[in-house]
Amino acid sequence: MKRIIALVMVVSVFLFVGLQAASAAGVDVGIVLPTKDEPRWLQDRARFESVIEETPYSVEVLFSQGSSAAEKTNVETLIAKGAKVIIICAHDAAAAGIAVESAKAEGIAVISYDRLITGTDAVDYYVTFDSVAVGEAMGQYLVDNAAGKGNPLYLYAGALTDNNAFLFFQGAWNILQPKIADGTFVIKNSVQADNLKDIKDLTRDQLATIIGEVTTDWDMNVAKSKAEAHLTARTAADKGKCYILAPNDGTARSIADVFAADTDVTEYFVTGQDAEKASVQYIIDGKQSMTVFKDTRILATDAMNMAIEIIEGKTPETDAFYNNTMIEVPSKQSPVIIVTKDNVKEVLIDSGYYEAGEFTGI
Ligand code: BGC
Repeated sequence: MKRIIALVMVVSVFLFVGLQAASAAGVDVGIVLPTKDEPRWLQDRARFESVIEETPYSVEVLFSQGSSAAEKTNVETLIAKGAKVIIICAHDAAAAGIAVESAKAEGIAVISYDRLITGTDAVDYYVTFDSVAVGEAMGQYLVDNAAGKGNPLYLYAGALTDNNAFLFFQGAWNILQPKIADGTFVIKNSVQADNLKDIKDLTRDQLATIIGEVTTDWDMNVAKSKAEAHLTARTAADKGKCYILAPNDGTARSIADVFAADTDVTEYFVTGQDAEKASVQYIIDGKQSMTVFKDTRILATDAMNMAIEIIEGKTPETDAFYNNTMIEVPSKQSPVIIVTKDNVKEVLIDSGYYEAGEFTGI
């Protein structure tokens, strides 16, 4: 009998210690971001961290390092730690669907962050910038800086696995297509875009055909070697003053460097987005023409507030719906700001987003 009592005591102590450990390691809100290797997502983590300091809830941020398998493991880790809400920015929009279905099966709410997870009904909310507006701002910038006819246009896109790449390209095409049709621009590096140049409203499959051809995979090295190959394949007559649709800041910098190094390129206009520090310096130095500033302070705050509302049993406010090919996902959408040399100080320094000391020549 004594033995049984002793055993029960030992087991209870184990159980108690075990439960304590589980609750100490538990998280209320789990955040999964695509990679640490791009400044954009480190910015988001930093913004999340400052929001987290203010909340009484426990939060854990994990990175998937560009791997769908790691992304799935991250979601499983957060499920095991008892997360009530998972905020996830998918590495691969379709593959992440499977990961979040297991969260949904456990009754965990899923917020798609910045990139929409597609092909599943396991997404409860989407917190995003207006990504079509991002592409439109890029297209408009190029149009506003072009005069006359026959201006050489080089198109680049994001990764096919990222739903945003479609929205950005669609937005840019909305503005550029009429100006390609009227001869203002001539596409120099995409057979597929040229084949579709008379169609304003491209289907998803048509967009995928173009993006597949001019994708950078969101990778600076891919962007660099594609731009090099494109310029090598072209003669001086296809260069001169060039207009370049680059999908984000990292790829913009590497494409800009390639164009700057070509002696047949006399001037170039190149777009970007994210207001990464290195690109802000490029803009100050006149090496990148513009960026689309997406204030990650707003996005991280919106996502955390949404998570807290869900934990507290409230219904978060939304202002848009995004179709993820399976359902219409209730979404909260934030506006974007165009930044050029003219307003870089006002938008990024005076607003406290960055400090003047982080740049030279501002
Ligand atoms: C984001 C961009 C980012 C890109 C590459 C997109 O989904 O919206 O801000 O530059 O991914 O990481």
